[in-house]
Amino acid sequence: MTPIIIDTDPGVDDAFAIIYAERHPNLHIVGLTTVFGNVSVTQSTDNAAYLREQLDASFDIARGAAMPWVKPHGGYPDFVHGEKGFGRFEATIPSYETHALSAANYIIEKSHEYAGELVLVPLGPLTNIANALRLDPSLPERIKRVVLMGGAARTPGNVSPVAEANIWGDPHAAHAVFAAPWQVVMIGLDVTHQVVMSDEMVDDICESLGPKAEFIKAMASYYGAFYKAERNVDGFCVHDPTTLVYLNHPEFFEVETGMVSVVAEGPCHGQTVFAQASNSYPDPYWSSRSNNHVCFEVNADNVNSELIQHLKNF
Ligand code: BDR
Ligand code: CA
Repeated sequence: MTPIIIDTDPGVDDAFAIIYAERHPNLHIVGLTTVFGNVSVTQSTDNAAYLREQLDASFDIARGAAMPWVKPHGGYPDFVHGEKGFGRFEATIPSYETHALSAANYIIEKSHEYAGELVLVPLGPLTNIANALRLDPSLPERIKRVVLMGGAARTPGNVSPVAEANIWGDPHAAHAVFAAPWQVVMIGLDVTHQVVMSDEMVDDICESLGPKAEFIKAMASYYGAFYKAERNVDGFCVHDPTTLVYLNHPEFFEVETGMVSVVAEGPCHGQTVFAQASNSYPDPYWSSRSNNHVCFEVNADNVNSELIQHLKNF
């Protein structure tokens, strides 16, 4: 089993991703670290606790950052995920305790416990991961790799013409994460806009779920309405779940290796600029690293089948 920490801002698609990961026999969620993003960090931590209870799971929950490093906070996208993050679903949050360590310190502690094995899976703004790097620059030596949802390399952004939401949420932190000496796999809009889960697929998942079907359907209908209006698709893009599927099935994806640099300031902030390792440029900056792996193609049918199979066990 691969030990993972999911850094998350649940969030409809985060919720699907966490359910998939917890129910997959090859993945072991050590903990969720929470971050601002789709909702406030207080709400995302509550939502993580709700998911843990619904899954009858025992992973840790460590609370993380409430604000980006430098840029002013950009507001919460309630028109995408709903005011409380689960669409129109009103979750009854259980009483719960968070881990004594903050998200960044939790990541550092677990990197020692699972040295060389632990995979970080960020599904929100990268503030917690960058904080952990800042607190302990030796962290990359103990992390197997980072597989993140974020960015848009050769496709338009979803919060600006060039920026994807998670990277835009904290571009300075994102830049630090791509630049650190570890392997980063970027599952960005280049692939996640190709993976659409339809209403029929949601019905299939829900068929024998019992009372939990209400939760799934309420989230899917709210999120789907946004995607219908925004991208004229029937269904919704499964950004975060696709990222988890990569861990189990990298063969569903086509990846290019090189260097990602994040634009941190100005109207293009949050843009992920990708330089392929096989290209050489007169400006030596763009050949200084090749530790970033960017996904450009995906077998969407295979990703959806994989998700449906395991989400049915929720
Ligand atoms: C990303 O932003 C959030 O809205 C989603 O949860 C996903 O992580 C997609 O751009
Ligand atoms: Ca997310």
